[in-house]
Amino acid sequence: MPRFTLFALTLTCLSISSTLVSARPSSYAVWAADSAIKRGQGNGLDSSGKASVSYEHGELQWGLRLLFERTGNQTYYNYIQKGAENIVFPNGTVHGNYKLSDFSLDPVRTGPTFLYLLSKTGETKYRTAADTFRTQLNGHPRTAQGQFWHKLRYPNQGWLDGIYMGDVFYAQYTKDLQPTNASAWADINNQFNLMFQNTLQNSTVPNSAGLLYHGYDFSKTTVWASADRGHSPEVWDRALGWFMMALVDVLDIIGPTPPAAQQQLQTSLLQILRTLAPRVKAAADKDSGVWWLVISQPGRSENYFESSGSAMFVYSLLKAVRRGYVSDSDGSIVAAMKKAYEYMANNWVVANSDGTMGWTNTVQVGSLDGAGDFNYYVGVPTDLNDLKGLAAFLLASLEYETLS
Ligand SMILES: *[C@@H]1O[C@H](CO)[C@@H](O)[C@H](O)[C@H]1NC(C)=O
Ligand SMILES: *[C@@H]1O[C@H](CO)[C@@H](O)[C@H](O)[C@H]1NC(C)=O
Ligand SMILES: *[C@@H]1O[C@H](CO)[C@@H](O)[C@H](O)[C@H]1NC(C)=O
Ligand SMILES: *[C@@H]1O[C@H](CO)[C@@H](O)[C@H](O)[C@H]1NC(C)=O
Repeated sequence: MPRFTLFALTLTCLSISSTLVSARPSSYAVWAADSAIKRGQGNGLDSSGKASVSYEHGELQWGLRLLFERTGNQTYYNYIQKGAENIVFPNGTVHGNYKLSDFSLDPVRTGPTFLYLLSKTGETKYRTAADTFRTQLNGHPRTAQGQFWHKLRYPNQGWLDGIYMGDVFYAQYTKDLQPTNASAWADINNQFNLMFQNTLQNSTVPNSAGLLYHGYDFSKTTVWASADRGHSPEVWDRALGWFMMALVDVLDIIGPTPPAAQQQLQTSLLQILRTLAPRVKAAADKDSGVWWLVISQPGRSENYFESSGSAMFVYSLLKAVRRGYVSDSDGSIVAAMKKAYEYMANNWVVANSDGTMGWTNTVQVGSLDGAGDFNYYVGVPTDLNDLKGLAAFLLASLEYETLS
């Protein structure tokens, strides 16, 4: 890890308490990963030891894979493999709480792990497991425009979350196993574009940040659906965070010079990312540098700075600049993300006495199952060491620690 980063972190830590400094390892990415592993988080099992096919495990595994590729430390690879083996039988059946007939996009986020292990080991069971999710997508219910429903039990609803859950896998599967399937590439392109168009805040809304509402109901029948496009009422930080991560991760999957069938997708993703990145930056709180839980109601009583969405934005925007997806000629995006990162490291990271990292301020859930309004979002409790936030902080740290 570069010396300057350690120096910068040491300086920021010193400003809080010099006793904490010695407890903090030089790489926060390593520290976050080791702490999750030590607590047994994201290993394919739930807290009672039962097999659990969980998107947040998929999110952690994505971070562990990047950390493995950076450090070469086999510990991280082995943990990913163990996590997958806990939810895939030797014959390739995905088990535990997974039911194809639920048609939920959430479990599909573990699919990139299967594809990664397939590429590493060539083992048939991972192909079988990935094919199960691909079969689910083939039969997945859709709106009349073609957007996947978030789940069978939410008819006609597209949620931003679902883009990260379903389409990172869909893109990786197509890239690895069906690279010339033009209708699959066109479908992925459609998923992103429909979600963007149907949830974009339009400029006539008071205080519009030009960002994306949490979701929409194409049938406009659910309680929160707006009259025009059926969108939900608020911009929720984590939903937008998932969407931003999906943009950069899928751009990485298709690579810098994709073949013809993937070029329209690349063009769309770059366009959406270049539209949203400056707006995400502009929506950060001016003093702290991080983001409100309900981005569409900055400063309102009971709203607060939320850690998972903030970490997702830092990961996405730093990666967007590093890969050249978004230009940052005056350095203002990187400067803003550094400020946000340092706030996170100083305020949401806790050094536990056993040497592990604790992580605070991640909201437990945000669902469009109910009213989907401001009071709903602020009424959900936050969790300590919530993996959705901790894994995002691992990802943000990986990016922060490559800055020069
Ligand atoms: C790999 O990471 C684990 C967990 O941090 C650590 O205990 C181990 O020493 C590392 N191994 C190497 C070879 O660096
Ligand atoms: C796969 O293995 C599991 C566990 O041994 C078993 O219950 C299941 O029936 C098998 N499925 C198939 C399709 O062979
Ligand atoms: C290509 O993708 C489309 C859209 O997902 C799918 O319907 C079709 O079965 C795929 N083709 C093959 C050969 O699997
Ligand atoms: C913008 O939003 C308003 C209020 O929901 C709606 O009436 C109008 O049609 C929208 N304009 C566009 C261009 O979507």
